[in-house]
Amino acid sequence: MALDRNPVPNDLSAFWMPFTANRQFKQAPRMFVSAEGMHYTTADGRQVLDGTAGLWCCNAGHKRPKIVEAIQAQAAELDYAPAFQMGHPKAFELANRLRDMAPDPFQHVFYTNSGSESVETALKIAIAYQRAIGQGTRTRLIGRERGYHGVNFGGISVGGIVNNRKFFGSLLTGVDHLPATHLPKENAFTKGQPQHGAHLADELEKIVALHGPETIAAVIVEPMAGSTGVLLPPKGYLERLREITRKHGILLIFDEVITGFGRLGSSFAAEHFGVMPDMITCAKGLTNGVIPMGAVLATSEIHDAFMQGPPEAIELFHGYTYSGNPIAAAAGLATLETYREEGLFQRAAELAPYWQEALHSLKDHPHVIDIRNMGLIGAVELEPIPGQPTKRAFQAFLDCYEKGVLIRTTGDIIAMSPPLIIEKSHIDELIGTLGDVLKALH
Ligand SMILES: Cc1ncc(COP(=O)(O)O)c(C=O)c1O
Repeated sequence: MALDRNPVPNDLSAFWMPFTANRQFKQAPRMFVSAEGMHYTTADGRQVLDGTAGLWCCNAGHKRPKIVEAIQAQAAELDYAPAFQMGHPKAFELANRLRDMAPDPFQHVFYTNSGSESVETALKIAIAYQRAIGQGTRTRLIGRERGYHGVNFGGISVGGIVNNRKFFGSLLTGVDHLPATHLPKENAFTKGQPQHGAHLADELEKIVALHGPETIAAVIVEPMAGSTGVLLPPKGYLERLREITRKHGILLIFDEVITGFGRLGSSFAAEHFGVMPDMITCAKGLTNGVIPMGAVLATSEIHDAFMQGPPEAIELFHGYTYSGNPIAAAAGLATLETYREEGLFQRAAELAPYWQEALHSLKDHPHVIDIRNMGLIGAVELEPIPGQPTKRAFQAFLDCYEKGVLIRTTGDIIAMSPPLIIEKSHIDELIGTLGDVLKALH
């Protein structure tokens, strides 16, 4: 019997979908069955322009030949190798490539399978590092309101999204939060980095004074918060955070799960902003979203602090069955090669001004109360319908999808982060369609 290449299942009940209104979705499913370049194809045969790089991850676009071939070849050559006490060449090769493309301080790579796992890993390394250097009282972790650090217990504890926290018990103890960097009154419709708000980093001094610096292991922030609606760091904010953390012996972790791999026009946001944390978490664009893989990049100072005991001792009691999985490593190598060959980070930087102007052309459209952008990332914030938050933006998402354009929403914020291969004509189509949708929206 011939294989049905585009199966549309008639029973959707078994799959409990993540971060989805399951009952609503299953009444009117939105199914993608294939993808190439900038487009998805739906089960009913329509082309949909990808305005979100999947979930902020397909930075090189879809069905990229090098990545497809690398995965196919790797599956046929070495499908799996044990991750503990055994190795395989591509995991080492990819770590070297990551080290080469990351800013100088980051010399070591610890593999995970997702952004959430990268966050848990970095938090654990931070606490274990402090202990390794004789600072065992430093166990507190500081996150930020409206921060998103994935969905595991460490990540939701330091994260600042109410719905991701309130259903799940008491979470980690010993966690505090900085205030969010979003100041809509002062900074609305700023193009790029906002002027006001560097002082918000000074809140860290208050937290330090409250608990004592000797209790705090690390601060974790997204250099630019993506998932909660593209909240940019005000000018001077990250620099200040770095200054205060360094002064008090507190590690600084940048969660670059979204900002890594070209999204801001550079390899990592640390490079873009010229502020070096002690660890960087990444995932998503590492394999172009094709195979699950994440990583924590650490400085030599952190790594070397663990390399002290007898050489036969395991230095870090942490790892995953799939850490550095051969097929993921092959996908990662092919992805980094694709970025390099096609100069995609540079391309993102070059397109950013065009993207910025296109986005801000929506300023006078109905319901729009703010527009924010940086690199190839942008947000259009809508005035919520009174008493029905999220509804207006979600309707815009549905209408855009009907008109052949994929956007994302969080609350009443529309977020866009297209693949870095996007053409100016696609930007016109994406923003033009969104503009038409906004004009027709109630
Ligand atoms: C900053 C940040 N950290 C962590 C995560 C979680 O990544 P994952 O969904 O791969 O676990 C995300 C996902 O969007 C993210 O944006």
